[in-house]
Amino acid sequence: MALSSFFETCTPSTFSLSLFGAEIISIQASVITNYTADVDGGDRFTAPSISLQNASFCNVTVTYTHPGYEDGINTEAWLPVDNWNGRFLAHGGGGHRAGRFPLSTQGMAGAIHDGFATITTDAGLDFSQEVMVPWALLSPGNVNLHKLQNLASTSLNDLAAIGKSLIKSFYGRPPSYSYWNGCSQGGRQGLMLAQRYPTAFDGIAAAAPAIYWTETLFNIFWPEQVMRMLGEYPHMCELDAITAAAISKCDGLDGVTDGIVAEVDECRANFNPFDLVGTVIPCAQTHTNIPISRAAAAVANASWGGIVSPTGEQLWYGLSIDADLTCNGRSAGQLCVASTNCADGNCVPVRNPLGSQWIQHFVSKDSNFNLDNLTHEQFASLFRASQQQYTSIIGTSDPDLSEFKKAGGKMLTYHGVADGIIPLKHMEVYYRKVSEVVDGVQDFYRFFPVPGLGHCMGGYQQPTSLFAQLQAWVENGTAPESSPVSFSGPDGVVQNRIICPWPRKARFNSSCGDAAKAECWACLAPSNHGEPSLDEVREVKKGFKKGAKKGKASYSNLHPSSPGIQHQEL
Ligand SMILES: *[C@@H]1O[C@H](CO)[C@@H](O)[C@H](O)[C@H]1NC(C)=O
Ligand SMILES: *[C@@H]1O[C@H](CO)[C@@H](O)[C@H](O)[C@H]1NC(C)=O
Ligand SMILES: *[C@@H]1O[C@H](CO)[C@@H](O)[C@H](O)[C@H]1NC(C)=O
Ligand SMILES: *[C@@H]1O[C@H](CO)[C@@H](O)[C@H](O)[C@H]1NC(C)=O
Ligand SMILES: *[C@@H]1O[C@H](CO)[C@@H](O)[C@H](O)[C@H]1NC(C)=O
Ligand SMILES: *[C@@H]1O[C@H](CO)[C@@H](O)[C@H](O)[C@H]1NC(C)=O
Ligand SMILES: *[C@@H]1O[C@H](CO)[C@@H](O)[C@H](O)[C@H]1NC(C)=O
Repeated sequence: MALSSFFETCTPSTFSLSLFGAEIISIQASVITNYTADVDGGDRFTAPSISLQNASFCNVTVTYTHPGYEDGINTEAWLPVDNWNGRFLAHGGGGHRAGRFPLSTQGMAGAIHDGFATITTDAGLDFSQEVMVPWALLSPGNVNLHKLQNLASTSLNDLAAIGKSLIKSFYGRPPSYSYWNGCSQGGRQGLMLAQRYPTAFDGIAAAAPAIYWTETLFNIFWPEQVMRMLGEYPHMCELDAITAAAISKCDGLDGVTDGIVAEVDECRANFNPFDLVGTVIPCAQTHTNIPISRAAAAVANASWGGIVSPTGEQLWYGLSIDADLTCNGRSAGQLCVASTNCADGNCVPVRNPLGSQWIQHFVSKDSNFNLDNLTHEQFASLFRASQQQYTSIIGTSDPDLSEFKKAGGKMLTYHGVADGIIPLKHMEVYYRKVSEVVDGVQDFYRFFPVPGLGHCMGGYQQPTSLFAQLQAWVENGTAPESSPVSFSGPDGVVQNRIICPWPRKARFNSSCGDAAKAECWACLAPSNHGEPSLDEVREVKKGFKKGAKKGKASYSNLHPSSPGIQHQEL
């Protein structure tokens, strides 16, 4: 079809749409020309930076409702008029948003650049106040479960069906292949699609997925809860100094000193933050030298250890030891778990709304619920209530991906090892569970931990080749055995590396000579010390109980060193 006729075809009457369970309210369509955008690879998660110049596409917005639910959902599709590659690529959301927000706009510009027809949905959620969730409560005490369900799952299947239908109407044929790309909330959406709508997409890039949703959101609040139980709010410089000490102590564990910790579990087992208590450090927040407090060590320790019950039982997994807890480092510009504000000399926690809003709006169901003085018992009880009420709706932790496998789907997940919001650990646990339930997981789903990378993006080793590799896997059957990444090392020299499908790890071949060359690295099976054990969950729990017996984890009566942590020279 000639270019001019695509322009003529871009009108609402071209698109006849019917969707089971939905009533279409309106379809808007208009040609957009001269669309220009520069998009960084980090904002595309799995694809390289691009510069889109003077693009033309048909912008189709479909508004629909699920009759009886009184919702109104907007999907926005961009259909290229002159360079369609025959394929479909849907974009996910972030934070508490389903999509149709600044990052999905960036992703869609990237998709248009590469010739994809692309789409995103707002799931019918009102986001007048950025990460706020004004849609959560119909009235005090009454959660809008239909909207939560739209965010969790329903809108995703709708999106796939609407996108495919618009493409067929516009180009006269369905897409040859359909893809999903998202990180965080968008990663969770990708996994929900594989779990619940296994035929919707052929290829899914689901990065740093916010699966185990209810536990993850409590985990985000946990460091603040610990500070409040202690009644002490450490300066960010103290936490930053602890993180920096851990990184510098453990950087070389993989045989290469490059500012990146590859062996985070070994590091955690051999690093005791309480050893640093009393060490005097220069503090950016006070402009003086101050000693690292015991509270700072306790907050770091709790952020790495994850949520524990009042009796010391581990309830959830913590962050890696190199995670940026304050957003002063690699996660600058994001929302961290242990930021404080000491502007008037009296430090207070900087609340991360992702966790607190979940607890307030969805679990206590009261937007005025005060989270300032929760006891450990109250916190643990809310944690359990959240699991009971919401895991089946939005937990997104079903490991049975057999239907997705049977449908021929392929999926890739990357997760920043230094993710400061969503623990790498939970991805290891999920992937291990999938491999226990479905045979041959590596044949359709591969998981790439990315050493040094924070949450979704952040300059270190962004895996921008993964999307093309997913396409090659779907379309040509070529599974990704590794993926190239690069970053600027401590001395400014560009380091070319590879990331590997878990549980394999990138190992430096020292006889090859140059750690800056990707060809001097290979993906090898984990050595015994790094091997993730299949019984890890149980072992961690046992270890915790043992420790708890000796001296129970009390936040008002801190012990100088934890019974579980060994001292060892590295
Ligand atoms: C938009 O692009 C067309 C060519 O597609 C060009 O003729 C026109 O001048 C451009 N308009 C603007 C405002 O840049
Ligand atoms: C984009 O359009 C502008 C305005 O029409 C023009 O000045 C510019 O050269 C165009 N860029 C490309 C890459 O075509
Ligand atoms: C596409 O159309 C919708 C509805 O009119 C509008 O809100 C949106 O901003 C448009 N997108 C672009 C890129 O212009
Ligand atoms: C440090 O964390 C470990 C593991 O999470 C925990 O067992 C221990 O009680 C903590 N130590 C202190 C003093 O809080
Ligand atoms: C919570 O505790 C703080 C002191 O830690 C106190 O100032 C405040 O009044 C308490 N708030 C409530 C609602 O109890
Ligand atoms: C599939 O393989 C062909 C032939 O090698 C190649 O031209 C094409 O780019 C590949 N497609 C993808 C998506 O990698
Ligand atoms: C390591 O590098 C050397 C020199 O380039 C090469 O001969 C050798 O095959 C490599 N070893 C492995 C295991 O890749």
